[in-house]
Parts: sequence; structure tokens; C-alpha cells
Amino acid sequence: MQATAAEKRLYIKTYGCQMNVYDSERIGDVLRPLGYQLVEEPEGADLVILNTCHIREKATDKVYSELGRVNALKRESARSGGAMMVAVAGCVAQAEGAEIMRRAPGVDFVVGPQAYHRLPELIARAHRASGERLAAQFTPEEKFDALPVERQADGVSAFLTVQEGCDKFCTFCVVPYTRGPEYSRPPEAIEAEARALAARGVREITLLGQNVNAYAGGLADLIRRLARIPGLARIRYTTSHPRDMDDALIAAHGEVEALMPYLHLPVQCGSDKVLKAMNRGHTAQSYLRLVERIRAGRPDIALSGDFIVGFPGETADDFEATMSLVRDVGYASAFSFKYSRRPGTPGAAMAGQVDEAVKNERLARLQSLIAARQIAFNASVVGRVLPVLFERPGRHSGQVIGRTPYLQAIHCQGSEHLIGQIAPVRVTAGAQNSLSGRLVMEAA
Ligand code: SAH
Ligand code: SF4
Ligand code: F3S
Repeated sequence: MQATAAEKRLYIKTYGCQMNVYDSERIGDVLRPLGYQLVEEPEGADLVILNTCHIREKATDKVYSELGRVNALKRESARSGGAMMVAVAGCVAQAEGAEIMRRAPGVDFVVGPQAYHRLPELIARAHRASGERLAAQFTPEEKFDALPVERQADGVSAFLTVQEGCDKFCTFCVVPYTRGPEYSRPPEAIEAEARALAARGVREITLLGQNVNAYAGGLADLIRRLARIPGLARIRYTTSHPRDMDDALIAAHGEVEALMPYLHLPVQCGSDKVLKAMNRGHTAQSYLRLVERIRAGRPDIALSGDFIVGFPGETADDFEATMSLVRDVGYASAFSFKYSRRPGTPGAAMAGQVDEAVKNERLARLQSLIAARQIAFNASVVGRVLPVLFERPGRHSGQVIGRTPYLQAIHCQGSEHLIGQIAPVRVTAGAQNSLSGRLVMEAA
């Protein structure tokens, strides 16, 4: 009889975007056959993995300070005879692998986003305290082929990566360097994964990609294909680039019932001069026209976006152009950031870097405008009956939490049996970040 592998404790801390959330799940899937079980705390873990983000300076700084804490735990574990292993994964690993090995001696190995299928080997090598400690080449085909199809996803809503990497080279952004060139997974593999998820009870899938709408076979076709899978009720996707929003995808928003009326479509800023310096490949006008076309096919679609304030050369007028674009589009929500100078990107070397105090002031103004928009959007659905997909129990007993088609979180009184189901809910109140509602009893 074969002995079962001894149980080992795996702690993963995830930073950054949904792609990392997906990858962390898959890391768990790869290591489960080796006997690793996920734990909630790093204390006493056999393997600690930080799945990191490089997008802004703050994100990277967080990783180094967390490594300090983890190293202390590692020394503690060694004192009591344990052997904690520490690994850095994700975009900081890709961008600064060698520097991590130098600056953080407690790190056993570093693994870039395209090398997770090699984790078992890297762990074995690290155990032998020899050999390769840095795996960071771009081979996404291998990554996806070698990850076991079996996914442990539990829950109602799941992420599914369909595309990785970026060829856009916005001048502020590290992603083309950390995630490599654009790569799309074959539709058969995606469909198989989606079917497996649906069989586990997943009702909603969010297709992920750094440029998900640059999906090679056409994202619209992929969505139509997945929409036929029994049990899958809702499909979403993120993040899209305005340049890749083609007619077929716009049409799908008007035609495919499972495709939810919510679209994250970052524009970054409202000034053509700055957009050009950012190498975005679109203008404020072309973006507004695109929004019009999308709304022509799906008038109720909720839009969100990303904004950067204080890009090099941004004047007070440029910033006002961003404010007016936000007003013109009428976003349901949006994320906004101060420009962060990333080493190696063209923006870092540009003249006209904006003063920190100016960035702070602009960000505060933009964020209060966005907050007001978000409140207005949530208020606009009060009184309506919306189909809600229930995801989990609420904080108070007898409460369940779900999402509307527009991605708004909503809670109401109801039994946990509703989890995994879609039921009509009358929205009774709206705050900035969530709604409350009442289940509508359907006539029997
Ligand atoms: N691929 C996506 C998301 C990229 S990262 C897209 O193209 O939209 C998510 C967001 O982080 C970006 O949309 C941008 O608003 C922000 N971001 C990227 N680099 C940044 C930087 N150097 N400083 C501040 N914000 C940045
Ligand atoms: Fe970064 Fe631009 Fe690529 Fe988005 S499209 S990942 S912002 S370079
Ligand atoms: Fe961060 Fe990498 Fe995602 S830099 S935002 S984790 S692609």
C-alpha cells in the first residue's frame, strides 16, 4: 500500500489584481497532490508563498516589509526544530527576482507568474538546498498545459484566466515586463475548465486577462460558447482595453443573456495630450464614442474605469479634462491612483514629474467625484427589482449577501439555501458600497 503524503501547511498571501487571485488558487491546486493544505495564518506553516504585485511603488514596498515579518517567523520556526520554506511569486518575483534573493536572505526561491507548474520541482530543489532558486521565463503555454485541470474552487463565483500578458506598453505600466507578451489560452481548455467549475456548483465566471478583450479567438465567440454551459448563469470579464472593444463584443452585450451588464473599461485620463504621452492609443473623444456605441446595444450597462492622476506633464487643465470625462461618462464606480514612477518604464524618465502635494490634491478631488457618482448610481436602482445571485451568508444571522447584475453587493434577510441561486430582490436602500433589499416572493 502506498503511504499518503504527510500533511503540510501552506500559507499564501495574495497581493494585486484578480489574475493573482486566480494564480494563488492554482498554486494551491498544484501543491495539493504533494500534501499541502491551505492555512489561514503564516505561523507554523511549512511553506509561505507571497504572490506579489509590482504595479505601484507601495505595492512593492509592502512585499519587502512582509518578507521581514515572515523571516522572523522562519527563524522562530527553526529555533523550535521546524523548517519553514519561503517563496516569492508573482510580479515582483518576475521584475526583481535577483534583487529579492540579495535583499531578503530568508527567501528559499523565487518563481515568476509563468512558472507555477514548476513549483513541485522548485520545492524539491530548495529542500536539497541546491540548484535553481529563480524561475522566471515567459512560457505561458507550458504554464497552463501543466497545471492540473482539477480545480478546488468552492463558492458560487469563480475567476478563470483566459489571457495573460500585454503588448500595449502604456508608458506608466510594468505589466508588459512582469507578465510578458499577450498570450491566449485555447478555447477548448477554457471550456473544459468552465464546465468543471459549473459541475462543482459555480454559477458565475469572471474571465480574466490583463487585456481580456484582446483574446485571440475573439472574446465574443468565447463568451457565446461558455454561455451554453448548463448551470453557468452569469459571465463577466475584466480588464478590457478600449482599443480592443470590437463590434462583436459590443453586440454580445446586447444579445447574450448570461453576459452581465457591467464593464470595466479603463481610460486613465481625459486629456488627449496626456493620453498620447501614456501611449494609450485612444483619445478622450474616441473613448466617449465607444461608450456611446456600447450603450446603444445595452443602455443599462454599468461602467467602471481606472484613473491615474499626476502623470508627467499633467497640468491643471489636463486634470480638469479628466474630471469632465468622469462627469460625461457617468461611471457606476471607478478606481483612481496617484502616478507611481516605476523603474524601467518610459514614464519614469519623462520630464515634468508632478509634485506629490499636487497629486494628493488632485486624487482627493477625483475620488470625491467618483464617490458621489457611485452613490448616485446605487441610489438609481432603489425601488427596482433585480435578479440577485446569492454568494454567502451575511454578517448578521438570517442574512444573505449576493450581487446584482451590475456587480453591486446587496444584502437581505433570507435563508442560506439561497446561496448559489438567483432570486428577485427589491432594492430598498443604497449606500456608497452596497445595497440592501427584500426578497420578492414569487406567486406560486
Ligand atoms: N491591464 C489593465 C490593468 C493594469 S493595472 C488595463 O490596461 O487597464 C491596473 C491599473 O493600475 C491601471 O489601469 C492603472 O490605472 C494603474 N496603474 C498602472 N501603472 C501605474 C502606475 N505606474 N502608477 C499608478 N497607477 C498605475
Ligand atoms: Fe498596463 Fe497599459 Fe497593458 Fe493595461 S494596457 S496592462 S495599463 S501596459
Ligand atoms: Fe500587480 Fe502583476 Fe496584477 S503587477 S496588478 S499583480 S499583473
